[in-house]
Amino acid sequence: MTPADARLLRLLGPVEADMQRMRDILVAQVADASAAVTDMTQHLGRFRGKQLRGALVLLTGRASGRLTEEHAAVAAIIEMIHLATLVHDDVLDAATVRRRVACVHQRWDNQVAVLLGDFLYARAFGLSTDLSSRLCSRVLSETTRQLCAGEIDQSAQRYHFELSQEHYEAIAGAKTAGLYAAACDLGVRYPDDDEASGAELRAFGWDIGLAFQIVDDCLDLMGDPEVVGKSVGTDVADGKVTLPVLFVHKNADHTTRARIRDAYTLPGLEDRLGRLNEVCDLEPGVEYAMARAEELVARAMQRLTTLPPSPSRAALEELSGFVLQRRW
Ligand code: IPE
Ligand code: IPE
Ligand code: MG
Ligand code: MG
Ligand code: MG
Repeated sequence: MTPADARLLRLLGPVEADMQRMRDILVAQVADASAAVTDMTQHLGRFRGKQLRGALVLLTGRASGRLTEEHAAVAAIIEMIHLATLVHDDVLDAATVRRRVACVHQRWDNQVAVLLGDFLYARAFGLSTDLSSRLCSRVLSETTRQLCAGEIDQSAQRYHFELSQEHYEAIAGAKTAGLYAAACDLGVRYPDDDEASGAELRAFGWDIGLAFQIVDDCLDLMGDPEVVGKSVGTDVADGKVTLPVLFVHKNADHTTRARIRDAYTLPGLEDRLGRLNEVCDLEPGVEYAMARAEELVARAMQRLTTLPPSPSRAALEELSGFVLQRRW
């Protein structure tokens, strides 16, 4: 176990019992009579993810004194939606490894991966209709819409080296920060519909979610695939110009800019990330992006001061720091 793993395990302490309930609900929800589906969901269950979004529901619920019996189900629903997005994302990104095992579309094929993602969405929204409040369905259907729109926009902006940082962050926000924001919003607010009460923690979730995606984009360039546990280099391979590359490109001379674009676009290149590393130094871009992520996390931590001090609030602070230090 790396120090980062141990840190993650430790910070979940205040909600460990609720996390276990969330995991039990997850297992029960993905169960299906079909042997073929069971085969796939068992494959997915082989390595569990970090479960940060589910943890945020529970930690914000506890830190605000608003945790209910139903929060574990809300957390499970968010984790199922997240898992559905991963199964689909790996098809879109032509990734090969996820959570240390073969992606669903690699182990089986694209057809079943698309359908398995749909199956998980259906289960998630099905469970949300069993809850006593409609808030969870309402918040998460809007968040899912935004997430899909973000993915579509990202696809439309591929190979766009003049993309502004604002536009990059709007995409990263829609596809990733929205679900973090929703997790915190529901943690604080569920089952009540009073929008104002969740606003500050919603903003906290947005900030750490955006930082999380920025760090992810750095890991895709610099991460060790063995440690990250998923394919790296997929952003370059698929034309996604992320913040570190945008920074390097913007500050490069004319010749280097052309070489960067070539690394992305020359037909037949096997290792585009390798080529990118040969034609430019990505380090300043990664430093710039990490500084932006740090700024977002600092702002997020400031927002936590609206909560009374407690072990759960301290865990939320730890989790915010983990977002910057994670290597997987
Ligand atoms: C990966 O999220 C997808 C992104 C938004 C970058 P996580 O890194 O939280 O995935 P798991 O659930 O821990 O595998
Ligand atoms: C994924 O972003 C965001 C989702 C909403 C799934 P990435 O494509 O960067 O996620 P990873 O790196 O494959 O986990
Ligand atoms: Mg993607
Ligand atoms: Mg991906
Ligand atoms: Mg990524």
